[in-house]
Amino acid sequence: PNEPPLVFHWFPIIGSTITYGMDPPRFFKENREKYGDCFTFILLGKKTTVYVGPKGNDFILNGKIRDVNAEEIYTVLTTPVFGKDVVYDCPNSKLMEQKKFMKIALTTDAFRQYVPIISDEVTNYLKRSADFKGKSGIVDIPPKMAQITIFTASHALQGKEIRDKFDETLADLYHDLDMGFSPINFMLHWAPLPWNNRRDYAQRTVAKIYMDTIKERRARGETGAQDIMWHLMNSTYKGDVPVPDHEVAHMMIALLMAGQHSSSSTSSWIMLRLASRPDIMEDLYNEQVKALGADLPPLTYEDLAKLPLHAAIVKETLRLHAPIHSIMRAVKTPMPVPGTKYVIPTDHVLLAAPGVSATDECYFPQPELWEPRRWEKDSPLAPTIIRNVPAEEDDEKIDYGYGLVSKGANSPYLPFGAGRHRCIGEQFANVQLQTITAIIVRNFKFRNVDGSDKVIGTDYASLFSRPLEPAKIYWERREG
Ligand code: HEM
Repeated sequence: PNEPPLVFHWFPIIGSTITYGMDPPRFFKENREKYGDCFTFILLGKKTTVYVGPKGNDFILNGKIRDVNAEEIYTVLTTPVFGKDVVYDCPNSKLMEQKKFMKIALTTDAFRQYVPIISDEVTNYLKRSADFKGKSGIVDIPPKMAQITIFTASHALQGKEIRDKFDETLADLYHDLDMGFSPINFMLHWAPLPWNNRRDYAQRTVAKIYMDTIKERRARGETGAQDIMWHLMNSTYKGDVPVPDHEVAHMMIALLMAGQHSSSSTSSWIMLRLASRPDIMEDLYNEQVKALGADLPPLTYEDLAKLPLHAAIVKETLRLHAPIHSIMRAVKTPMPVPGTKYVIPTDHVLLAAPGVSATDECYFPQPELWEPRRWEKDSPLAPTIIRNVPAEEDDEKIDYGYGLVSKGANSPYLPFGAGRHRCIGEQFANVQLQTITAIIVRNFKFRNVDGSDKVIGTDYASLFSRPLEPAKIYWERREG
């Protein structure tokens, strides 16, 4: 009786699954116009309550632990891929401790080492890739960016030892793990289907590779490489409980997988957007020349701070192409929605879609326009919210056990989420994406094959909002 309005549908169970699945952002927009910011639809037989806008983002993402639960929803997808006893296969308090351990690999000191590693990986990739031979050509961007992402992330986050294995066995194994991350597995995760069998074999094999590496390191008594595996091996849970080897291994998988799709799809969108706006790609090149010198010396972490347009490219691309369009929570106690008569019952799932407010003209003038310069202070396209709500730096901070996190309450722009499940990889992703962009800009000019300013549509059939494929662009080597 006090439930939010139910989206009209013809068939039970199926409900709105198809219209939602084909284009979630359009589904949210259309139903918001009809029903308001808070409404319910049927997703695979489940009553799913969407609450969009900054208030909705806050209601769901900053929900109390007794009210909302993430692991119940995600575990069927993630546990077979990551392995047992980590992330969503353990109580939330344990995840908070694990996020604290993982964050140690993501400090400024670490980033200082990562920038040269990432630059070299990109440079070497561009040199050896058959698709970038000669002076110009046409290339399908997403598969290239997927490879660049895995090589850069694995080398930076997991060390050279593991990175080298990606040229041999690990790439195929991670590909099989990936196949576990498909929406169909929300229903069929348990089924002995070919791709699930390959997923399970890959999980065991990859975990064993990490566990063998851990054992070898212990046997050698190694203390030299203070990389992420070393940190995880030497972390202890509350009460001085060491982290078991299999949990170290499973966190290593989780860390790489968590970022892979998001970063890979974002870097593809960046390249496709640049191909649609060659003028901005030129501006990026000129920004580097001006800030770093015409000889363009090897890139450092400190240099990134001198390249605000590079940072804005990432920010603006995530505004229009946030890889995660739907964030879900199980409802554990009936939840009254403040300021309304609605109460969300425990048989509902809550769905936050921060992408809706990020493309709402109330906050972002000309919301569909990709314009990195809107993030400059005095831009006429600057987000209106900046004028009435504290900037992220001044926002209220909470410690959920893995360091201070901005509440992000009432922000219309939350590509990395908010609250206890907020992303720990934001800074890494920024470093990685800005570095990849900088190196590619040094080497190439891009444009659309037909010279237009069009961008390709989004593929929502996977869990992440990736470009439809093939997504080809024309490249030309920069002279000099
Ligand atoms: C959580 C986005 C890259 C590790 C999240 C969440 C979002 C997100 C929206 C919240 C999910 C939820 O509330 O249910 C992104 C985007 C990325 C990115 C847009 C890149 C452009 C990364 C990277 C890493 C990473 C590179 C690892 C190095 C994590 C982890 C969580 C998380 C561990 C916590 C999950 C939880 O507490 O439930 N990310 N992410 N992410 N992300 Fe990221």
